[in-house]
Amino acid sequence: MDGNGRWAKARHLPRTAGHKKGVDATRKAVEYCSNAGVEVLTVFAFSSENWRRPEGEVSTLMELFFSSLRREAKRMKEKDIRMRIIGDRSRFPEKLQQEMAATEAVTEHCGGMLFQIAANYGGRADLVFAMRQLGQELLEGKLTLDDIDDEAIAAHTFTAGIPDPDLFIRTGGEQRISNFLLWQIAYTELYFTDVLWPDFGARCLDEAFADFAARERRFGKISEQVRHA
Ligand code: IPE
Ligand code: MG
Repeated sequence: MDGNGRWAKARHLPRTAGHKKGVDATRKAVEYCSNAGVEVLTVFAFSSENWRRPEGEVSTLMELFFSSLRREAKRMKEKDIRMRIIGDRSRFPEKLQQEMAATEAVTEHCGGMLFQIAANYGGRADLVFAMRQLGQELLEGKLTLDDIDDEAIAAHTFTAGIPDPDLFIRTGGEQRISNFLLWQIAYTELYFTDVLWPDFGARCLDEAFADFAARERRFGKISEQVRHA
């Protein structure tokens, strides 16, 4: 979700106004995806590198995170959307960590779309955590080297048990991954748009879905094999 700051700057507003507008865009995108039949939606809300931003912006983002979790959890529950926060939460203020746990608990039994918020998440850190756990199990003799394969690694990431994403969307004109779900996007279709996140609405999502639908996913095979299947 990129472009909040630029959206605000273009309107001579403080960056925080862009982040507030970004929350509205997120709520709309979540509901739109849920209605469209998306099974899992993961948004990159705060990367492990975002702590490097000015202190004031970081604390505003924390407050916004806190107030939106509190406000949206009920709404998500009504829409049968299950919420999960992925990433290393230990660095967040205690109050926010409690709110994260509460949000997950409130929507725990929802059977509709799974909405994941990546917060203090980094794709490399995700893999480092996984490797450490595997290493620990290896040292304890619970695993042998042969047990370490794709499946075992995936099972130790934050997204264990959740299918890899089909589509990756980055708004705001940048054409890079910026340490999002690195392991998980090996075969994901990438979609980049110049639209700034606060302006990214239903029509933009439809365009992204249509673009995705027109692609041929071969997973290493040749076109004829995929078409026959
Ligand atoms: C939202 O957009 C990203 C976060 C909430 C961390 P940015 O804040 O990166 O907006 P730009 O890139 O400055 O426009
Ligand atoms: Mg940015």
